Amino acid sequence: MISIIVAIAANGALGAKNDLLWKLPNDMKRFRELTTGHTVIMGRKTFESLPKGALPNRTNVVITRNVKASFKDCEVFDNLDSAIKKHRNEDEVFIIGGADVYKQAIAFADRLYITYVRHAFENADAFFPEINKNEWIMTENKDFPDDEKHLFSYTFQTYIKKK
Ligand SMILES: NC(=O)c1ccc[n+]([C@@H]2O[C@H](COP(=O)([O-])OP(=O)(O)OC[C@H]3O[C@@H](n4cnc5c(N)ncnc54)[C@H](OP(=O)(O)O)[C@@H]3O)[C@@H](O)[C@H]2O)c1
Repeated sequence: MISIIVAIAANGALGAKNDLLWKLPNDMKRFRELTTGHTVIMGRKTFESLPKGALPNRTNVVITRNVKASFKDCEVFDNLDSAIKKHRNEDEVFIIGGADVYKQAIAFADRLYITYVRHAFENADAFFPEINKNEWIMTENKDFPDDEKHLFSYTFQTYIKKK
């Protein structure tokens, strides 16, 4: 099973200047709970945006076209197909971004875990590709209001690919 996990703003925004645009502790908690114990596959730029490097208690996979690159505590592949091939027999493998990698992976992903952030960020420079909702069945849809720890309201949704 190949899953995409992503937080998407109202205008499709994912980030700006190789960083996120919001801080939502409950989204980070959901991300940690879903991905811990699994393999996470990410683009080189997303890896470089991680504040503490490789994510603990997960197999971290970074893709880059630079065949000489190495990243601490990570497996490195020079193409997405090989990274997927190595891990595809695992229960669940997570594609964790960024925009470039999501754009390639949406074609073959089996499941989407989306956090919709209810705000349009005008300064974004990375965006999620269009999702054809006819191809997906929604299996989770939970709304959360903003509060003292969450500046924006947000929604957790899960989709599985129609067979
Ligand atoms: N909102 C969210 O849930 C979320 C999640 C993750 C990231 N983000 C945000 O997304 C932004 C980063 O996204 P991005 O699109 O700029 O970068 P990215 O997808 O993280 O990384 C792109 C890089 O990955 C490598 N790559 C991509 N496809 C490849 C392939 N098929 N084969 C080999 N290497 C490949 C290339 O590295 P080389 O240039 O080294 O060859 C490419 O430059 C940041 O703002 C980040 O904060 C948001």
